Amino acid sequence: MNEIQRTKSSGVKPTPKEHLERMRKGMTEATYQPPDLRKAKKRLKQDVMVHYDFQIPLDMQKIGINKHYYIRTYGCQMNEHDTEVMAGLLTSMGFTQTDKMSQADVILLNTCAIRENAENKVFGELGHLKPLKKENPDVIVGICGCMSQEEAVVHRIMRKHPFVDMIFGTHNIHRLPHLLKEAMFQKAMVVEVWSKEGDIIENLPKVRKGHLKAWVNIMYGCDKFCTYCIVPYTRGKERSRMPEDIIQEVKQLAQEGYKEVTLLGQNVNAYGKDLAFDYSLGHLMDELRLIDIPRIRFTTSHPKDFDDHLIDILAKGKNLLHHIHLPVQSGSSDILRVMARRHTREDYLTLVKKIQAKIPNVTLTTDIIVGFPNETDEQFEETLSLVRTVGFEHAFTFIYSPREGTPAARWKDTTPMEVKKSRLQRLNTLVNQQSKQAMEKYINQVVDVLVEGESRKNEAVLAGYTEQNKLVNFKAPKHLIGQIVPVKITEAKTWSLYGEWVTE
Ligand code: 5AD
Ligand code: SF4
Repeated sequence: MNEIQRTKSSGVKPTPKEHLERMRKGMTEATYQPPDLRKAKKRLKQDVMVHYDFQIPLDMQKIGINKHYYIRTYGCQMNEHDTEVMAGLLTSMGFTQTDKMSQADVILLNTCAIRENAENKVFGELGHLKPLKKENPDVIVGICGCMSQEEAVVHRIMRKHPFVDMIFGTHNIHRLPHLLKEAMFQKAMVVEVWSKEGDIIENLPKVRKGHLKAWVNIMYGCDKFCTYCIVPYTRGKERSRMPEDIIQEVKQLAQEGYKEVTLLGQNVNAYGKDLAFDYSLGHLMDELRLIDIPRIRFTTSHPKDFDDHLIDILAKGKNLLHHIHLPVQSGSSDILRVMARRHTREDYLTLVKKIQAKIPNVTLTTDIIVGFPNETDEQFEETLSLVRTVGFEHAFTFIYSPREGTPAARWKDTTPMEVKKSRLQRLNTLVNQQSKQAMEKYINQVVDVLVEGESRKNEAVLAGYTEQNKLVNFKAPKHLIGQIVPVKITEAKTWSLYGEWVTE
């Protein structure tokens, strides 16, 4: 079977205006398909197709022999995993990975668009790349990831950083061999960004970072359209992988000796909604539970779709870890409404109660945005009170960053930046206090630690993570690296625990 018919596959052609621009820039020879946020917003009823016949074209299988590649990754785990796929593609073309940018023949920046500061880092890096490219004009510089999906970014790169050789989008990763070949032999910049989500391409080669923990995509895209968020535009509509493909991948990882799998999706709780049969994340977890792999996590969840069936399955435990990352974004129902989150403060607290009742030892972590347009002091206080009530053990906290093309970016915002910064500081102080308290609970307890390697600060100390994702440092022989071992906790800091290996 080469593919499953779920929808028509499509590339999006340039509009006439875009085509004109392409002509003006003398780019008629090279591929030129820039992004279009309006198209990216559309959600068509058609289903997607799953392709099983991916192959690197014969003439590109040796193109990278004696050449090196370097990929710098920004942003979330989804991007980290996309980098593993691009590394797989490049390796299959004969390239070797290097840690030194100056040694590379191909440099890719896998970018993140979630907040302005993420984008600024990439533009800063582009500034550094210019002299490198001048020194070695043969090096191919490519920009990919979420920023490539934004029109404004693509135009800015074309105008201000014309030395860039290729720009390709999140739906075009499997096209890397073709685009690279074109970039190597074309003078003009190669731009291929499909704004309509691509099909699901199975069997792409991957070079995973590490041999203990693996990321596995279960779905792509997001249909929630929270008013602040660029992700539904950069990652397209929700598309679930077929359950058997995910199960097969996890079984394979177990056979290869991996100890932990994190299931990935922008909104994993929507898993299965787009499939033609009745199947959800709960069903998937129930099947994965039976695979002989010690740890299974998933990220990231949306409270709206977190159903009772899933809670019941997670409560069965075994290799399904009792750590749930459940972004709340705000503790104020009014702010949640304007964020279009589709849940209230009360809905969230009810869900947390349900989870805590069925999974008493659950660790909850979250994401929070402060300073959403016109957030009042009272509304911010509601966020602090929700953090206390739930007892989050960790939170990723952000100041709201307007993203061009999203509804919230068009709203007038009267809250001064100074106020936003001081709210963030107060929130972080509270979150850090709760993290420290949560860490102290472990003193004198014996926890299972997946030993990942030597501590970064001290070679004599080993480092690993508990089931709740707490970092543990402890002195023990190096042969334990790669194993899950019991450690008795003796000391707690805000971000890490210290302990002793329990030998018996
Ligand atoms: N500004 C600030 N934070 C944002 N996030 C998403 N979009 C924005 C934005 N425009 C945060 C949310 C999300 C996390 C991945 O990033 O908290 O859960
Ligand atoms: Fe963005 Fe998450 Fe909301 Fe989707 S659910 S729009 S990824 S914040």
